[in-house]
Amino acid sequence: MPRRHKIALIGAGNIGGELAALAAREHLGDVVLYDIPDKEGLAKGKALDLEQNGSILGYDSSITGTSNWDDCAGADVVIVTAGVPRKPGMSRDDLLSINLKIIRNVAENVKAKCKDAFVIVISNPLDAMVYELKKVSGLAKNKVVGMAGVLDAARLQLFLARELGVSVKDVRAMVLGGHGDTMVPVTAYCTVNGVPIRQLISKEKLDAIVTRTAGGGGEIVKLMGTSAYYAPASAAISMAKAYLRDEKRLLPAAAYCEGEYGYKDLYIGVPVVIGAGGVEKIVQIELTAEEKANLDKSAAAVRELLEASRKL
Ligand code: NAI
Ligand code: 2OP
Repeated sequence: MPRRHKIALIGAGNIGGELAALAAREHLGDVVLYDIPDKEGLAKGKALDLEQNGSILGYDSSITGTSNWDDCAGADVVIVTAGVPRKPGMSRDDLLSINLKIIRNVAENVKAKCKDAFVIVISNPLDAMVYELKKVSGLAKNKVVGMAGVLDAARLQLFLARELGVSVKDVRAMVLGGHGDTMVPVTAYCTVNGVPIRQLISKEKLDAIVTRTAGGGGEIVKLMGTSAYYAPASAAISMAKAYLRDEKRLLPAAAYCEGEYGYKDLYIGVPVVIGAGGVEKIVQIELTAEEKANLDKSAAAVRELLEASRKL
């Protein structure tokens, strides 16, 4: 009998809870929901609620809440949402300094207890957090990835589907670059079931949708005072599934570049293939001169964040 996989979720907040719910529903394995000692009750309460949910929905995953890293030991997949989400009025730098300390602590524990895991980082600012986690944990570059592109592309796909009056199932899009205002939707690769999007929509409408996508996270923060959690959780679960089931999915994700696209020692959103080997490859696609210039601008913004991190 193959053993069940173990999924450790670091952070039992809004995204962590939704990740646990989806991991159980998708029968990915047993789930450990970790949070700091002050939030142990929250982690344990969500875990118990979700186990009870299993007897209605028909899944048998064990779901446990804990504030002890020993319970995460040997996880196959670790998904990190530890940190604080950006609140209205909070600067990028405030967020960076709070979450950097948290990620360093998480990375030390990953190194000690989960050294063979595939680690998906969600905490913001995403590109700096995933870089730091890899650096401090010492894990191989193929085993540490950041989730942003799948979410950003999902937003672009939705806005296009609604504008065109077609199913979201048929719209495919690719969003590269850092997870922030400088993200780069590569609209030349965006299609409705193979039909290039530019044949279906005016430039003005497409530009407006691209702008809305880049501000997609902020739009939700403004509405509810904290960041999105349903779609971010689904995005990370699709990446975990690709790894656990060796699906070889080609997805946009923050991956460690060592020369690809001309970037070195940098995590940034690029197309990758995720399978049993983790990030099995970075796929190099042709970009227009404008898209490459925008990607360079985005890479420069990520480097600025890394510079700021080095001083903290
Ligand atoms: P949340 O505040 O609901 O949950 C975060 C949890 O992390 C809290 O329960 C907190 O106690 C816990 N935590 C703090 N320090 C910890 C530590 N040292 N170890 C373990 N857990 C710790 O926040 P939410 O909404 O779940 O968001 C989590 C992060 O994800 C935020 O940084 C947010 O900005 C980011 N995010 C990223 C997205 C992306 O596309 N990459 C999309 C949406 C959110
Ligand atoms: C999001 O894109 C704010 O990163 C968060 O929803």
